[in-house]
Amino acid sequence: MSRFSAEELRGVYRAVLTRRDVRAFRSDPVAQPTLARLLLAAHHGPSVGFMQPWNFIVITDLALKREIHAMVAREKELAAADFSGPRREVYDRLKLEGILEAPVNLCVTCDPERFGPGVIGRHTIRETDVFSVCCAVQNLWLAARAEGLGVGWVSILRNDLLRALLKIPEPVFPVAYLCIGYPERFASRPELEEIGWAPRVDLKELIFANGWGRRDGVEALAEAAGAEDLLR
Ligand SMILES: Cc1cc2nc3c(=O)[nH]c(=O)nc-3n(C[C@H](O)[C@H](O)[C@H](O)COP(=O)(O)O)c2cc1C
Repeated sequence: MSRFSAEELRGVYRAVLTRRDVRAFRSDPVAQPTLARLLLAAHHGPSVGFMQPWNFIVITDLALKREIHAMVAREKELAAADFSGPRREVYDRLKLEGILEAPVNLCVTCDPERFGPGVIGRHTIRETDVFSVCCAVQNLWLAARAEGLGVGWVSILRNDLLRALLKIPEPVFPVAYLCIGYPERFASRPELEEIGWAPRVDLKELIFANGWGRRDGVEALAEAAGAEDLLR
């Protein structure tokens, strides 16, 4: 049957709507078969010209995690200069990674030359290789949610340093650094929304019809499906 059952459908939307970026982890290990399923989910993501430009570097070595953690701590400090006043105070208190606690760290990379220069669909938009890697990450993130595992994406880092630490050869480059483990909790809303840093934008404001800024007839789309209905 091509259509999912009502229960399966609810499961898919539950994963989508209750997925969170997680930064506080319990120490319980992630079993190999579970991690294998997450990587399989990632590997089944869509990719431009079926390029599959990803590799997955699983990081469990504590010394390596410590080095990456130290780099992220330095970069968090440097990025603090982007904020001032009360926002700076909030920024300083934010926990933006769970590198040391998460039993598994994962670096997802992109090889822009996989399968040579001719990739169907990539002639004009070269970044479609990175888009593809992000699709793989999202597959993994949703599968992790369904498994009860938390994922936190850490982007406060320097790719050149990460490349050196993980010995990633040119022209491959890191796209995502993920912390994976059983979470302390799955918050019901994004932390940045909970603390008032940024609201979720009203979907109504984001949908246009037949061109930028035109709304004729599409307002109802935003109201047609409420998150509560989907999770009921
Ligand atoms: C590309 C990307 C990079 C991110 N980098 C960080 C990061 O460095 N530190 C962090 O705490 N969260 C990071 N996040 C998580 C976002 O803050 C989070 O997804 C957003 O606030 C929405 O919350 P939710 O994922 O729980 O729905 C990143 C997310 C994405 C997609």
